[in-house]
Amino acid sequence: MTPPVFVFDHWATLHQQRVEQVLSRALPGDDTLPERLHEAMRYAVLGGGKRVRALLSYAAAELAGATPLAADAAAAAVELIHAFSLVHDDMPCMDDDDLRRGKPSCHKHYDDATALLVGDALQSLAFESIANTNAAQALKQVQVLAKATGSRGMCGGQSIDLQSTGKRLSRDALETMHQYKTGALIEAAALLGAYTADQTDKQLITTLTQYSQHMGLAFQVVDDILDATADTQTLGKTAGKDALQEKSTYVSLLGLEEAKALVNTLYAQTLQLLAGFGPQADPLRGIAKFICERPF
Ligand code: IPE
Ligand code: IPE
Ligand code: MG
Ligand code: MG
Ligand code: MG
Repeated sequence: MTPPVFVFDHWATLHQQRVEQVLSRALPGDDTLPERLHEAMRYAVLGGGKRVRALLSYAAAELAGATPLAADAAAAAVELIHAFSLVHDDMPCMDDDDLRRGKPSCHKHYDDATALLVGDALQSLAFESIANTNAAQALKQVQVLAKATGSRGMCGGQSIDLQSTGKRLSRDALETMHQYKTGALIEAAALLGAYTADQTDKQLITTLTQYSQHMGLAFQVVDDILDATADTQTLGKTAGKDALQEKSTYVSLLGLEEAKALVNTLYAQTLQLLAGFGPQADPLRGIAKFICERPF
C-alpha cells in the first residue's frame, strides 16, 4: 500500500482551527469580570493571524512522537505571547500602528491603558497555560518560554529595534536583533512542542534548534521584504512603515534582491537539515516553505 500523500495546506488548516479552539477556551469569556479587559484580550488573540508559531509546536511535537492533544497548551502559549508582542508593538510608544490583522489595533479599538494590560495579561495566561500540564515538562517549558520572551529574547529584541531606529546597524547586529525579537519565540515554539513528548532525543532538539534559528531569521527577513513590497490590504497591517520610520531591516541594509537571496539560502539549508528525516518531518518542511514563500 502506498503511504498517504501529505498535503500541507490541509494539515495547516486542521491545526490552525485546532489552536483557535484551544485559545478560545483558554481565554476568559467577555462576560467575566473585568469584562472590558477580557473582551480586549479575545479581540487581540482570536480570529486572525497565520498561527505559524502554533503550527511549529504541533509539527515539532509530531516529530518527537507526541499527540496534538499533548501539544495544545504549548501551541496556545506561544500564540498568546506572540499576540501580546503585537499588541505592544503597535502602541504609539513603539511602532504606532493603527491596523493589525485587518482590523484596528488593540489600542485603537480600546485605549492605550487597556492595550498595555492586555499584553501583560496575555503573557501571564501563556505561562498559566503551560504550567497546567505535566509537571516535569512544564518546568522545562516555562524556562524555555521565559527566556524567549524576556530581555534576552523578544523584549530584548524589541528594545534593540527601538534603539536602532534611524541608525545603520552592521549585518551582525541586525541578525542579532532579528534573532532576539522574532527568532527566539519561533525557536521556543518548536522546542515547547518537542518537550511535550515523554522523552526527547538530544539530537532532535539540536536539529529543531538549528531549524528554528534558520526559520526565525527567515521569518523576520520576509516580514521586512513584505513591508516594502506588499500592500496594506494584503498584509492586514500598514505597509511601507519600516522605510517611513527608518527601521533597521534587511531590506534597508542589503536591498530587496539580496534579502530575497538570503531567504532562499536559509530555506535550502533548512531542507538540508531535515534530509535525514522521513515523512514525519513533512509538516516542518511545509512550514519552512510557507515561511519563505508566504504572500502576507
Ligand atoms: C508579525 O508576525 C510580527 C513578526 C514577528 C514579524 P506574524 O506575521 O506571524 O503575524 P500574524 O500572527 O500572522 O498576524
Ligand atoms: C515585530 O516586528 C516583532 C515583534 C512583535 C516581536 P515588526 O514591528 O516588524 O512586526 P510588524 O511588521 O509590526 O508585524
Ligand atoms: Mg516593531
Ligand atoms: Mg511593528
Ligand atoms: Mg514588520
